[in-house]
Amino acid sequence: MKTTIDKLFKETTLSRDEFLYLLNNMDGDSLTYLRDKANERRVQEYGKAVYTRGLIEFTNHCIQNCVYCGIRYDNKNADRYRLSLEEILDCCKLGYKLGYRTFVLQGGEDPYYSDERIVDLVKSIKKTFPECALTLSLGEKNFSSLKQYYEAGADRYLLRHETASPTIYNKYHPNMCLQSRKKCLWDLKKIGFQVGAGFLVGLPGQSNEDYVEDLLFLKKLQPEMVGIGPFIAHENTPLEGASNGSITQVVTLLAIVRLMLPKVLLPATTALGSIDPTGREQGIKFGANVVMPNLSPTSVREKYALYDGKICVGDEAAECRQCIEGKVRNIGYSLDMSRGDHKNWRRL
Ligand code: 5AD
Ligand code: FES
Repeated sequence: MKTTIDKLFKETTLSRDEFLYLLNNMDGDSLTYLRDKANERRVQEYGKAVYTRGLIEFTNHCIQNCVYCGIRYDNKNADRYRLSLEEILDCCKLGYKLGYRTFVLQGGEDPYYSDERIVDLVKSIKKTFPECALTLSLGEKNFSSLKQYYEAGADRYLLRHETASPTIYNKYHPNMCLQSRKKCLWDLKKIGFQVGAGFLVGLPGQSNEDYVEDLLFLKKLQPEMVGIGPFIAHENTPLEGASNGSITQVVTLLAIVRLMLPKVLLPATTALGSIDPTGREQGIKFGANVVMPNLSPTSVREKYALYDGKICVGDEAAECRQCIEGKVRNIGYSLDMSRGDHKNWRRL
């Protein structure tokens, strides 16, 4: 195992068989070794800085029906909301005061936010906060929409591929298509965005072979950011009662991705913190270097319920900021409130 981990460290890639070998044979000692190598690589690239992004969940309306997701169209129990332009700007203002210099606008696939509305939103935010980075996470869009958002001033775009295994993808994404999702990610790269892909871990039926597909896809795409989180069941979905993804599996994959893409911006996700109170800290120890505390108004927090047991639902933005700072400091790292761009990125 150590030779394979050393090889990944040195060459930043492995063959399909070697990746599978790594995942199939990870024992306690190898995991410790993998963690230390991933941490070494992160420290080499970014030191002990943990970058912060203020997350604004601006709509939970969604036309898609991802089987695992709590805001899927078919969940008639979801209490739907949309934030107005003013409400979103207020979140940014509060975030700015708290020190955030990156805002992430995330929502379901909601046609109410037409390209024109998104462009207006992007322009207003960039005009008010010119030195802040703006990340969009609005689901799949066509090339021309994405180009308009970029030209309006958006810097980054998050679109997890969710799983690169066609069988698993089709099982959980009715009326969606893995090829179009991948195309959207390539479009984002072509336009010049800093691109975030990523995948779920622990969906019923997902296997190590499937994670190898994810790793190989990420190696090819070379995204600037990778979001990896455990699947967590939501009670009003067909996956109610299914087992959640395991923290060990998530941190293993985080560490492998750190070694594979040394400069990647890798969040310790809220979902990871939701399956284990020390989840985000463990993620950081395994190579993650980003946290995304919530900036959404507390009045809508619990409505953006992608899964059950989400943390921070009752906490004010300022509390999350304090809380996360304490957690990061406790394990010997420090919050970095700067924009935190990917090392190799310049706006085209
Ligand atoms: N458990 C964990 N993560 C989920 N997401 C959606 N539903 C769930 C769930 N039940 C993730 C998806 C999406 C991101 C915003 O949230 O990966 O891309
Ligand atoms: Fe929100 Fe800890 S990050 S309360």
